[in-house]
Order: sequence, then structure tokens, then C-alpha cells
Amino acid sequence: MNSLPKVHTGFQSSTEKLLDWNHPMYKLYEKAKKFGGWNPIDIDFSVDRQSVLNSGPKERELVAQLVALFGAGEEAVTLDFLPVLYTMANEGRLEDTIYLTTFLYEEAKHTEFFARWRQEVGMTEDLSKYHTDNYKKVFYEMLPQAMNALYTDNSPEAQVRALTTYHMVVEGMLAESGYHSFRLGFQATGLLPGMIEGIKNLGRDEGRHIGFGTYTLRRLISQDPKLYDVFTETMDGLLPYAIGLINDTIAITEGEEMYGVDWTIMTDYAIKQYNTREASISKAKDHFDAYLEIEEEAEAIIE
Ligand SMILES: [Fe+2]
Ligand SMILES: [Fe+2]
Repeated sequence: MNSLPKVHTGFQSSTEKLLDWNHPMYKLYEKAKKFGGWNPIDIDFSVDRQSVLNSGPKERELVAQLVALFGAGEEAVTLDFLPVLYTMANEGRLEDTIYLTTFLYEEAKHTEFFARWRQEVGMTEDLSKYHTDNYKKVFYEMLPQAMNALYTDNSPEAQVRALTTYHMVVEGMLAESGYHSFRLGFQATGLLPGMIEGIKNLGRDEGRHIGFGTYTLRRLISQDPKLYDVFTETMDGLLPYAIGLINDTIAITEGEEMYGVDWTIMTDYAIKQYNTREASISKAKDHFDAYLEIEEEAEAIIE
């Protein structure tokens, strides 16, 4: 269970090693400093405001639902990420910890982005009613439970469960699919340019986040291939709720095109993302002695 060290036995930055500048997570940190500096307050939401004012009730409701899911989703991943940072720091993984300081800052900024958008366009009513039972199961229960378990159990199994829930399903499947649909639905129409600008920035940040999750899951599974079963069990346990919450969201369209888009593609895209994540992690179980190779692969993901 919990074998976290209670005292420091030395500090890496006082040794000849300094920092491992070639560590994949250190490289991710450099990328975050370079590309993660965007500011939601700089984005102009005036066209978005006009579009929301002019939209029909059904169109407005679709946007309200999407914002209700993604705004709360970003809040959940902001509030629930700390146990991973805590675990990496307690294991003395300095480069991972340094990178994760940018990770949490970025999730906070994503939460700010949706709150700012709602305020600027005047969509300030309570949107909690759009959180269906499937949504609540994932974001109110399964995510915080998997993450907070790390405070009392830092075993590799618990880490795989937490990272699979957070990085593979919530970020890699749900957020990726949602933001893909946003771009598809609103980019061509030009109706929500502020939203699209924010989502493009957000998507770049999420690419780095998923890079961390993929790298860490592969590291863990390469050291103990039996953990691959923990990974697939966690994925399978989340799948029905993840698909369920997407279907709940697109039900309003009744299979008709809205904003020129057939929103049922969201489900297909999510399943595709699910399969991509599973294939990407499955590689690690055959390479349990090849830590260096995994580092190279992780770098390829990050690029
Ligand atoms: Fe995010
Ligand atoms: Fe993220």
C-alpha cells in the first residue's frame, strides 16, 4: 500500500546530475513554458455573444449543454489532479513533478476559460441540470474516487487506475472527442470564434497532458505487464458511462443536423479515441525491459 518516504535522503539538484534535461517529462515542461502561456482574458467573445443572442432555443440548448459538460469537466480535472502530483513528488520524480506544475496551472486556466465565456456571452444561468446520471457517475464519482485513492494507496495498481481514468478516458476519450465536435460544429459557421480560439489553445495543452498519461502508464506497465489487466478493466468499467453521457448530450439533436453537423459522429469518434488509447498503451506490455525504447516512444507522442 502506502510506502511514501517521510524524509528526504538528498536533493538531485545539489548533485552533479542537476536536472535530466533529456527526460521526456522535462522536455514536456519546456514545451509547456513555450506554448502554454495563452490567456483567456485576451480572447474577444463579442461575436460569440451576438451569436448566442441570435440563436434559436434548440441551438442555444445544445451549446449550453456542451458548456455545462466541459466547464464542469475542466473544474473536476483541476480539483482532482493533485494526488498525481503528490505521488510523483513523493516518489522523488523531479522532472515529472516540475512538468506537472504546468499541468495543474493549465487545467485551472481551462476552467477559467469556460467561466469567462459564460460570463461574456451572458449564459450565466445554472447549467447543472445538464449533468445526467452517466455524467455524474464519471465526474462526480469515478474520477475523484480513483484520484483520491492515491492519498492512501500509492501502489502501481492504484496509479494505473487513476491515470487510466483521468488521462485515457476523461482527457483522451471524452475531452478529445468533445473538442473535436466543437471545432467541427462551430469553426465552419464562424458563429463562436472566441470559443474556437480557446478550444484550439486548450487542445494543445491537452495533447501534452495525454502525453504525460501515456508515458507514465507505459512506464508502469513496462515494469509489470500484469498491470495491463488493471488498465483494461478500468477502461471497460468506464466505457458504458462515457458513451452514455455522450449519447445523453446529443439526444437533443434527435439525429438531425445542427450547425451543419451530424452530432451522432461524436459517439463514433469517442469509440475511435478509446481504441487508439488502448492500442497505444498495449505496446508497453511487450517491452517490459525496454525502458529506453519507451522513452523514445513517449517523445514521439509529445512531438
Ligand atoms: Fe483541461
Ligand atoms: Fe488536461
